[in-house]
Amino acid sequence: MSTPYYEDEHVQLWHGDFRDILPRLDIHPDLVVTDPPYGETSLDWDRWPDGWPSLLQHLPRTSPRNIHRNHRPHPPRPPQTHPLPRLRQTTTPQPETKLLRPMPQTRQRTPQTPNTQTGSSMTRRPHLLDAYSGAGGATKGYQRAGFHVTGIDIKPQPHYCGDDFHQTDAITFIREHGHTFDAIHASPPCQDHSVLGSVTGREHGTAHLLADTRAALKLTRRPWVIENVIGAPMRPDFRLCGCMFNLPGLRRVRLFETSWNGFSLIPPCYHTGHAVTVAGHGAQGNEYRDGAAPTQNDRRRAMGIDWMNRDELAQAIPPHFTEYIGVFLMAALQERAA
Ligand SMILES: C[S@@+](CC[C@H](N)C(=O)[O-])C[C@H]1O[C@@H](n2cnc3c(N)ncnc32)[C@H](O)[C@@H]1O
Repeated sequence: MSTPYYEDEHVQLWHGDFRDILPRLDIHPDLVVTDPPYGETSLDWDRWPDGWPSLLQHLPRTSPRNIHRNHRPHPPRPPQTHPLPRLRQTTTPQPETKLLRPMPQTRQRTPQTPNTQTGSSMTRRPHLLDAYSGAGGATKGYQRAGFHVTGIDIKPQPHYCGDDFHQTDAITFIREHGHTFDAIHASPPCQDHSVLGSVTGREHGTAHLLADTRAALKLTRRPWVIENVIGAPMRPDFRLCGCMFNLPGLRRVRLFETSWNGFSLIPPCYHTGHAVTVAGHGAQGNEYRDGAAPTQNDRRRAMGIDWMNRDELAQAIPPHFTEYIGVFLMAALQERAA
């Protein structure tokens, strides 16, 4: 056992029983990945290799000081075109990106980020239209991802947290003005697609809005995202739940279809302990899962939202979800602009 079975600039393979070989190698690993036989079948090789966990336990670890001394330099990495969205975080820096097209604004709720003139091009936060915005759960996440957000809702939204707001019909607005935004998010009403709706059998007559909204979005030729619940007729490019973020107490699954057929590898939904379901209009009795009775503040904390009343909260998307999607959307925009 003096030479490896295979070696190149990235990897060394040693052939033999790992319990014999490992003690003779002078390695100080930062991470050990292993897939031993489970010993669950009658196959010859499928025997549980006794002793390997304790062998690994006694391997000398690489201390931070040793990293430079012991490790070969990494090969150059390929250029990264997509910023990798990070899970389990609440804020991301707000990058300035190239202006795609100046956006006429009709009514400004808060002062707009001033544009910065650099030669012939301007930089500013890209403008996102949040259709069916409610009080702005989705809006908040996109703002954190770096967007200037305009909300559209058929009802007045006195608590809306975005940069601009219009009270009007979403599909009409998308058809008339959608193309003037850099990107569009839409959360059409979900009651007629939800599990609860199918149990009660009560229809709201809004099921057609999802397909009609998608058709309007496609005509804008802008990148778009549609959000809805499990059961909605849409492609789930992303399927997010609170437990995948820093919201361990939130059981709330939402699907996202994207114009760029986005995807990501995320650990699946997994809850331990008490989880809050924020559903319906937050009435007592429909939010208990495992014996816990959450208060309104528990629900706000679970959602990562502190500015909404009970009904607004019951309809909202946790900002963590759209902050996550927003990073992908930003990358999709940058790719189009390149
Ligand atoms: C599921 S909620 C949206 C929640 C929001 N995305 C959030 O994260 O807070 C759906 C919203 O659609 C609005 N809505 C219903 N029909 C509409 C229409 N035709 N045009 C615009 N908004 C509409 C409702 O008033 C409601 O606020």
